[in-house]
Amino acid sequence: MAGLVLVTGAAGGGQGATGRLVTELLLARGVPVRAFVRTMDDRAERLKELGAELAVGDLREIADVKPALDGVERVFFTYPVLDGLLDATAVMASAAKQAGVQRLVEVSQLSPRVEALSPRTRQHWVSEQVFDMADVGAIHLRATVFYENLRVLAKAGAPNDELAVPLGPGDNVLPLIAGSDVARVGAALLHANNPAEPFHYLVGQVLTIEELVAEFGKAMNKSLTYVNLDDDEWRARALAMGRAEHTVEHLSKLWQTFRNPAVRQFATFDVTPAIERLTGNRPETLAEFLAKDLK
Ligand SMILES: NC(=O)c1ccc[n+]([C@@H]2O[C@H](COP(=O)([O-])OP(=O)(O)OC[C@H]3O[C@@H](n4cnc5c(N)ncnc54)[C@H](OP(=O)(O)O)[C@@H]3O)[C@@H](O)[C@H]2O)c1
Repeated sequence: MAGLVLVTGAAGGGQGATGRLVTELLLARGVPVRAFVRTMDDRAERLKELGAELAVGDLREIADVKPALDGVERVFFTYPVLDGLLDATAVMASAAKQAGVQRLVEVSQLSPRVEALSPRTRQHWVSEQVFDMADVGAIHLRATVFYENLRVLAKAGAPNDELAVPLGPGDNVLPLIAGSDVARVGAALLHANNPAEPFHYLVGQVLTIEELVAEFGKAMNKSLTYVNLDDDEWRARALAMGRAEHTVEHLSKLWQTFRNPAVRQFATFDVTPAIERLTGNRPETLAEFLAKDLK
């Protein structure tokens, strides 16, 4: 497949930076990429040096997105955990349909449902529906919690040698994944010519809370203590750290979701074999991620 791919989130934000890695992987395979960035900065310059064409704009603005789709055959869509997902989805779905896009791979969450506790997760359900209705060959990457997300939490608690999150008892289990594995699956699906399943549930490793705290401790060379914080206290600390209301609302509901054993009815807790099948590599473990990330 050598047609032009529009990659959104291409500069890569503070979470999984999936768009940046998808851009790099596609360019390395000789696929032409138009990288959609919010602003011209060093990250955008670097994408240009790698061979990407640049489109600068706001994903919520049709006047920016429509021209960026000119001549595009496939799209990678991601939007940060901030307000605006549904605006950006509606803009992209309508512009991609008009442009005749044949395949659109989008980053969703593990278990989007109308009944989900998190408003952001409910928005992902709507977003999936809108892309399906647009008939643009939507493929939904239903990814679990990124390692990058927990890394932010661990760094926040580091001064007190604690990892403080309301995730329940230490033997509670959490399905996790590297943002880079989500990107690798996305790039593989955008590069492939064969028909693809419309949903990919993405889990890279399943750990108990005690195991994950031990992995962070090893990587940080510290004896970390897990503190099963009260929900209100976690929310207050996260807001005090300057995190956006939308993000804090989503995460606080996410911790509640994963504390509830009923979550297993709606979300898979098995490592996804398709990650290795599609990318040729088994998923990265948390230990491997931290060895690079916290160096
Ligand atoms: N984190 C997790 O644990 C997790 C788990 C499962 C699913 N997800 C899903 O993954 C998605 C986030 O993907 P990601 O981690 O790759 O995101 P990310 O690292 O936060 O990157 C977001 C990118 O979007 C760009 N951007 C932000 N607002 C924009 C706008 N209005 N117009 C154009 N570009 C804009 C950012 O540019 P700037 O940097 O210049 O602002 C950045 O490059 C979310 O939908 C989330 O629900 C996350």
